[in-house]
Amino acid sequence: MDRSTFNIGHAELLQWVKEMADWCEPGTVHWCNGSKEEYQQLCNRLVDKGTFVPLDASKRPNSFACFSDPSDVARVEDKTFICSRTKEDAGPTNNWMEPAAMKKILKELTRGCMRGRVMYVIPYCMGPLDSPFSKIGIEITDSEYVVVSMHIMTRVGQKVLEQLGSNGTYCKGFHTVGAPLEAGKEDVTWPCNPSVKYIVHYPEENTIVSYGSGYGGNALLGKKCLALRLASTMAKEEGWLAEHMLILGIENPAGKKIYAAAAFPSACGKTNFSMLIPPAEMKGWKVTTVGDDIAWIRKDQQGNLYAINPEYGLFGVAPGTNQATNPNAMSALSANTIFTNVALTTDGDVWWEGLTKEEPDGLLNWRGLPHDKNSGEPAAHPNARFTAPLSQCTSLDPDWENSKGFPISAFIFGGRRSATVPLVYQAFNWNFGVYMASTMGSETTAAAFGKQGVVRRDPFAMLPFCGYHIADYFNHWLQFGRDLANPPRIFGVNWFRKNEQGEFMWPGFSQNMRILQWIFERVQGHLSAVESPIGWMPHYDDINWHGLDFDRHQFYELISVDREPWKKELLEHEELFIKLYDRLPKEFFFMKELLLSSLWRSPLNWMAPGELMAS
Ligand code: GTP
Ligand code: SPV
Ligand code: MN
Repeated sequence: MDRSTFNIGHAELLQWVKEMADWCEPGTVHWCNGSKEEYQQLCNRLVDKGTFVPLDASKRPNSFACFSDPSDVARVEDKTFICSRTKEDAGPTNNWMEPAAMKKILKELTRGCMRGRVMYVIPYCMGPLDSPFSKIGIEITDSEYVVVSMHIMTRVGQKVLEQLGSNGTYCKGFHTVGAPLEAGKEDVTWPCNPSVKYIVHYPEENTIVSYGSGYGGNALLGKKCLALRLASTMAKEEGWLAEHMLILGIENPAGKKIYAAAAFPSACGKTNFSMLIPPAEMKGWKVTTVGDDIAWIRKDQQGNLYAINPEYGLFGVAPGTNQATNPNAMSALSANTIFTNVALTTDGDVWWEGLTKEEPDGLLNWRGLPHDKNSGEPAAHPNARFTAPLSQCTSLDPDWENSKGFPISAFIFGGRRSATVPLVYQAFNWNFGVYMASTMGSETTAAAFGKQGVVRRDPFAMLPFCGYHIADYFNHWLQFGRDLANPPRIFGVNWFRKNEQGEFMWPGFSQNMRILQWIFERVQGHLSAVESPIGWMPHYDDINWHGLDFDRHQFYELISVDREPWKKELLEHEELFIKLYDRLPKEFFFMKELLLSSLWRSPLNWMAPGELMAS
């Protein structure tokens, strides 16, 4: 696109793009206009290059599969840096380097890094264009895959530049796959730098530099880099919240509707939960989807909370998604979808573990090789993902682009815990809720590169995404709650508790609606609850069991809070506190002591039916 047709009146932006082009030496510079034609042309280009495999149009119109380099399959947390002016501002949970030192490294790495490639300039907006809460970003990239993905995930194009005007502020994002094509060199289908990767944030300069990776949150800079890491820092300064949360609407049979936001760590069920379809027996209950990954939450003048989803698309985990677990996601990805690192079927469609019970014959795995069913290896990468327009999701809230956002009545926090943590509990108050979310643990998943299946503390599901000192973030949450008109109730959930046989104790997925109904009723103040050592818990008879065979005994096992594992849990909170102690809210030490003593005070079998202490 010739930039003269754009009328870019923003001199500073033009200057930055020119400097970058001079330094990176791309063949050409292309300003993205966000049009359908542009999307199609770039998809065609990716097909010509062999990056995109077109899927059978009768099965999945306008959809493509692509396969990344094996070194480039997930976020790289150990290569992600918060380069704030001081190390203390990044805090002990982020990698930090002095901004000047990092800039020196990146400057060297990026000299001529776009040779033989096109430099794309993507003007995008996080949030509805007409919302006062939205933020504009400009991403420079040399990856067509990134451009088409940004088309789906954000609002891209000319309208954004118009909004920016001649001197509007924007987030500067620079991305390169770090694989220049020197003259005569053949391109590969997934260019990246297999050995050098950097995902760098300069919070004081509203700037991101991403080098060497083309995958997901490493490369689509609007998502984790802007909408979480930089936005969380802005939110702290400006008095709002940028969170790793889904947003959903819950409507009861009488037509009363509330909204909730829920934080689960990566690959722990946000997409599934945000699109939940209640079981048939729960007639009249309805869930609508506003977002599945990120929420920006503000206070209005009256002290009520409103949340928007800054994204425009879904970048969801493919394995495990099927007609039973998530029919709404399945419909969202029936057309106009990009699949990354899934397997290919012989008839031109995609497959992943869990899509069907039986694995079809003749699959090509995510490495492009015939899949050996007996190899013990999955055919799709565990972090294989689909990129699809949110507008295609059948459970989408009719008002999803509303510029004011949605009133939030409940926060839900949940990790992946095979032991210790009960199915559901409600924090005694805002401060206990903040404590609970701050000390949340989860077993690590394939969504990040590194060791999997070990419990790590993942405060608010924000450990990889908080752009500043995480203890300051806890303080911000405490402070934020102080002048709320009617603070949202805070709940903890755990769909992943296992029995001694290693089986999930809770059926999960659509059955989670039963827990959501309890949360809905608690928010209305309709139900009493049982006081457990760690929070309020449901009476067995207050859960809607219609259509599910789940007896009292099973339920009490699932919500048990056992003394010994919880003592261990509290010791692990202490380990986190020691790391953060100089900035940790003082309240936390007292709350931990209170929890410990209430564990000792309550009878060991406090949840046994005869001993329930009704509130
Ligand atoms: P990111 O996009 O990485 O932030 O993750 P997400 O939280 O959106 O993850 P997603 O919903 O894609 O999580 C998928 C994983 O969670 C799959 O392994 C699912 O099988 C599993 N999952 C989701 N809901 C449930 C549930 O209710 N019970 C159980 N046992 N597993 C679930
Ligand atoms: C996550 O890891 O939480 C994601 C995927 O949502 S990515 O965008 O790659 O970070
Ligand atoms: Mn996420």
